[in-house]
Amino acid sequence: GRVRHYKFDVEYMIKTPDCLEHVVMGINGQFPGPTIRAQVGDILHIALTNKLSTEGTVIHWHGIRQFRTPWADGTASISQCAINPGETYHYRFTVDKPGTYFYHGHYGMQRAAGLYGSLIVDLPKGQNEPFHYDDEFNLLLSDLWHTSSHEQEVGLSSKPFRWIGEPQSLLINGRGQFNCSLAAKLVNTTLPQCNFRGGEQCAPQILHVEPNKTYRIRIASTTSLASLNLAISNHKLVVVEADGNYVQPFAVDDIDIYSGETYSVLLRTDQNPNNNYWVSIGVRGRLPKTPQGLTILNYKTISASVFPTSPPPITPLWNDFERSKSFTKKVIAKVGTPQPPKFSDRKVFLLNTQNLVDGFIKWAINNMSLALPPTPYLGSIKFKLNNAFDQKPPPEKFPQDYDIFNPPTKNPNANIGNGVYTFHLDEVVDVILQNANQLNGIGSEIHPWHLHGHDFWVLGYGEGKFKDGDENKFNLTHAPLRNTAVIFPYGWTALRFKADNPGVWAFHCHIEPHLHMGMGVIFAEGVHKVGKIPNEALTCGLTGKLLVNKRH
Ligand code: C2O
Ligand code: CU
Repeated sequence: GRVRHYKFDVEYMIKTPDCLEHVVMGINGQFPGPTIRAQVGDILHIALTNKLSTEGTVIHWHGIRQFRTPWADGTASISQCAINPGETYHYRFTVDKPGTYFYHGHYGMQRAAGLYGSLIVDLPKGQNEPFHYDDEFNLLLSDLWHTSSHEQEVGLSSKPFRWIGEPQSLLINGRGQFNCSLAAKLVNTTLPQCNFRGGEQCAPQILHVEPNKTYRIRIASTTSLASLNLAISNHKLVVVEADGNYVQPFAVDDIDIYSGETYSVLLRTDQNPNNNYWVSIGVRGRLPKTPQGLTILNYKTISASVFPTSPPPITPLWNDFERSKSFTKKVIAKVGTPQPPKFSDRKVFLLNTQNLVDGFIKWAINNMSLALPPTPYLGSIKFKLNNAFDQKPPPEKFPQDYDIFNPPTKNPNANIGNGVYTFHLDEVVDVILQNANQLNGIGSEIHPWHLHGHDFWVLGYGEGKFKDGDENKFNLTHAPLRNTAVIFPYGWTALRFKADNPGVWAFHCHIEPHLHMGMGVIFAEGVHKVGKIPNEALTCGLTGKLLVNKRH
């Protein structure tokens, strides 16, 4: 493959993504950051310079497995030290699988601050995807708050706790409309009709199409919180790819997409070419308080300013979880794609609960709430710096009699920790994620869990508490490969993966405030087989001291 060079300058900027001015994080003056487009086998070389004046930064390449380059995973405290203001870090890694990916900040809540962009990997020239399309579009979905990520972060870590609330705007490719509606003429709203002269940063990016063609629409969600549903009026969507893996094609009217997931859908422009149509995204899974995000599908036969004749698609009811499950379960592997090993070597049960730690509200996994250490694990494990983090591994199961249907009333307390689950290289691991009731008995919510460094097979989703015998229902014949999977309220989700990638990898809820509140774990495997870690990944904490001492 060829080497593709990029220079990324990360900085805070004033932009008007939803027609109001906000401070956002951008790259090279752009928000969202530039789209990276590469071919399978290419080596990406991204020289990332921190142009923030007072804080560190890193960028994670979401969905890229980083075989042989675990120090390029871009996770502060895990794979590298945060890059200091003024410093440049060199991300060099191979993209080995075609698909739709994205990248984002992975330090503090910088993703919520807007540090993200798209990463698309094409097949090499001459090779064809297992489906046909004439052209494509890319939609990167996100949610926007009018409070800064710093204010959110402080509120989440305060006593009394301050929740971030619902987003003010939903963005499609970084564009939304807070004080006007594109559809005001057709819907019941107090907002005025949007009127754009041209050139506004919040004007929607219109999808211009020709009739009777097939378009691939790549969709990625980097939301901080929102679970979204995307629909295009009058048009069917045929799902063909999920998280960079081919799936058995299926047609739907709309798709659910959770933070951390990506999809490709095919759309046939077979509707009346004298109309334009809505592309809508709306909130699901939580009581929506945010207007839909909208843009237009424009048949080039007419002007893009011709107003659609009917209102935008109505987002399915937020709490119709049966509908959500039915969509999620339709995603199965394309016939002929690799299937999971028949047996696992190890089973890890992870109970997701909301707890108190010294009266602070946290999320905990088997009663441990993750707080990352100052020395990144990759270096501290490789150089056996045993003081760098808790040497006691976290529990691999939870008490059998734990009542997932009720809040943890008897003992609401959890512990803060940073221990590591260590796997043998090539061990086949099952993870059973178990959902439960929250702290105040307010219910159980959806969490999209994302694994770094691997794809996993989703073996199944179940209701209630996982019990002996449930593994007999695992789907071992067409389990989809993914890097993100949700747990539904009061349910479990079972995953299988092969620990075949030497390194240290985060596995966490992709909801930014949940991760900040401790909802994650750390996996490590084969770290002794990791090649020479570049010094620039090691310059902080105990590995930083090691570097200094070696020099004297
Ligand atoms: Cu896209 Cu660890 O996250
Ligand atoms: Cu969560």
